[in-house]
Amino acid sequence: MSELEGKRVFVTGSGAGIGKAIAKLFIERGAQVVVSDLNALSAKQAAEEIGAAGVANCDVTDETQVQTAIQQAVEILGGLDVLVNNAGIEVSSPLLQQSTESFDKIFAVNVRGTFVAMKAATPHLVESQGNIVNISSIAGVGGSPLLGSYCATKAAVIQLTRVAAVEMRPAGIRVNAVCPGFADTAMVERLVPDFEAATQVPFGDLVAAKQGRLGTPQDIAEVAAFLASDRASWVTGSHYVLDGGLTA
Ligand code: NAI
Repeated sequence: MSELEGKRVFVTGSGAGIGKAIAKLFIERGAQVVVSDLNALSAKQAAEEIGAAGVANCDVTDETQVQTAIQQAVEILGGLDVLVNNAGIEVSSPLLQQSTESFDKIFAVNVRGTFVAMKAATPHLVESQGNIVNISSIAGVGGSPLLGSYCATKAAVIQLTRVAAVEMRPAGIRVNAVCPGFADTAMVERLVPDFEAATQVPFGDLVAAKQGRLGTPQDIAEVAAFLASDRASWVTGSHYVLDGGLTA
């Protein structure tokens, strides 16, 4: 039997990048997946390309939209076994020069978005004895210049994961996080010019020295698939670092 046979899954921010790779790999491993993104066009294209069960879009900063999308996913799938909180944004700025509006925005997407989706999914996950995979980052376990607010949001995601895991253990729900290093997506492409300007080192050299190579979205999807599967039935409250040794 495939690793995720029969699992019914909802992935936020899955129109592109890591979320799309998670949705694709989960389908290859036997899951039925509902794709969701802020960008309706990329969600539609991704869903067609990977053979998703459907699309239920939401902006994770809007609690009503999140509740509606999760309800739609439950109707499409006939229930919900796995929530993957992947939607996230980056801000590149020296911390104390970042505007308060931009600080609030990154918390609204990365932290509040994760929180409201966990709340909306919980009754369905209690019913299915399901689990949650939150996408944090190595930025959640170590500091990085230019990524101060991003680091703070990703540390918050780890803490939400830990506390939700402990609180939901009696209800039979597992909650884990994944903390990737730099992976090959549009997000990292957007960060490269600022990193190069700040360090005066070509990004490729930095990556080669620190983590061997760029991660691929598939590298991250592999760990998410394990955590979502029954093979990880004793794994909860954990955060898995996968970064080619960057933080070792
Ligand atoms: P990306 O920017 O390539 O893709 C993010 C997707 O999320 C896009 O499809 C975007 O439309 C969607 N999205 C953005 N804001 C949203 C919102 N408010 N509501 C719903 N969807 C929204 O980013 P990438 O690299 O695929 O990142 C995915 C997750 O992985 C993020 O949480 C990111 O912080 C995390 N991550 C990424 C790393 C990397 O090196 N690329 C490393 C560590 C963590």
